[in-house]
Amino acid sequence: MSRNITFTVQPGGCLKGRVRVPGDKSISHRVIMFGALANGESHASGFLQSEDTRATMSAFQQMGVRISADDLGNVYIHGVGLRGLSAPQQPLDLGNSGTSARLMSGLLAGQAFSSEIIGDASLTRRPMDRVVLPLRQMGANIETSAAGTLPMKIQGQALTGIDYTLPVASAQLKSCLLLAGLYADGETVIHEPTATRDHTERMLSACGYPVQIIDGTLRLRGGTELQPFDIQIPADISSAAFFLVGASIAPESDLLIEAVGINPTRSAVVDILRLMGAQIDIRNKRLLGGEPVADLHIGAARLRGIDIPPALVSIAIDEFPAIMVAAACADGRTLLSGAEELRYKESDRIESVAAGLRVLGITVETSPDGMIVEGGKLQGGEVISQGDHRISMAFAMAGLAASGQVVIKDCANVGTSYPGFAESAQQLGLEIEVRE
Ligand code: S3P
Repeated sequence: MSRNITFTVQPGGCLKGRVRVPGDKSISHRVIMFGALANGESHASGFLQSEDTRATMSAFQQMGVRISADDLGNVYIHGVGLRGLSAPQQPLDLGNSGTSARLMSGLLAGQAFSSEIIGDASLTRRPMDRVVLPLRQMGANIETSAAGTLPMKIQGQALTGIDYTLPVASAQLKSCLLLAGLYADGETVIHEPTATRDHTERMLSACGYPVQIIDGTLRLRGGTELQPFDIQIPADISSAAFFLVGASIAPESDLLIEAVGINPTRSAVVDILRLMGAQIDIRNKRLLGGEPVADLHIGAARLRGIDIPPALVSIAIDEFPAIMVAAACADGRTLLSGAEELRYKESDRIESVAAGLRVLGITVETSPDGMIVEGGKLQGGEVISQGDHRISMAFAMAGLAASGQVVIKDCANVGTSYPGFAESAQQLGLEIEVRE
């Protein structure tokens, strides 16, 4: 992570051929977590081997769980049961991964031991009070910095279920409370006013754990053992999103992205791009490991600016760096609002996207919860990714539509979600050079 990687993208070209992007990051984290807590050996194929998922894996290894992964995407987890984790001897370093930190805080709050979560500089800036406050209502003993950030010291406690309405649309918060709920006395009830990704709920079902979901209210009782599972993890639509945008903005593109997860709580990027005029065909829809997948075919299209429907924001939250690059290439203006959460990601994505687009000659106006992008003609320039993987990959795609070379600094973080991104992009036709 301390490596200094620069992407240099030559202007023009298009994306052609077929690609399979790596496994879904959200599901890969959960496979490790639920596999570790299950009673017996679980297996998953299509597992994402990245810096973020390795952080989760090594945290559980530090708590006595045997996990092995091979180069073919298989991961085997020797689950120790709900009460089988052992106390870690060192702080658990979760690197850059917000999902690991937030989900694991819930799981650790109910253990019979103490633990500490630490992370890198970016993770240490991100808000943890959103999980700490409800966990304390459940009886958890957790300390953070005065700013409500890492390091987080957790003294395991007996927990009690609560009835809680999520104040922010966050799957990480929802999942944290569901994990704490596994250890709580009585019922944990969570009301989710806005839909967010539902992979935790699906994993609970895969483990045979009773969870009731009616109209955005989730109910679960603690104490049932989780059954081991054998699942296939679909390709990550958040990684596919860069190529969906790249192929849309580069004339003559013709691309097939295989076996992409199109869970309705994740696939709004396709809906948004289609509203902008993108030519995306959903082919060969099927179920894989309890998740819907499909092959996505994309051809170049003339895009138009839109007002992004607020109902789609929370279910496309990770795709906005890419979507805003599409907006920069569209005719007319695109309005994004209701997306304040973007300010709390690996970087402040409203500011990082706006700064990058302005370097490339695009007019952008930001607001506390979004931005207005005036579509135009991209020029070359040097963009700073702010150490954020999705900013690096989104601006690499911008090179396809730019009139000059696009240089992106500080791209090492791409390894947190898509190791091999530059190689895949190059094979599809992007002229990208990676320099350390
Ligand atoms: C994730 C949830 C989202 C997303 C993150 C992964 C998850 O965060 O941005 O990349 O796996 O639950 P929030 O739930 O905080 O919005």
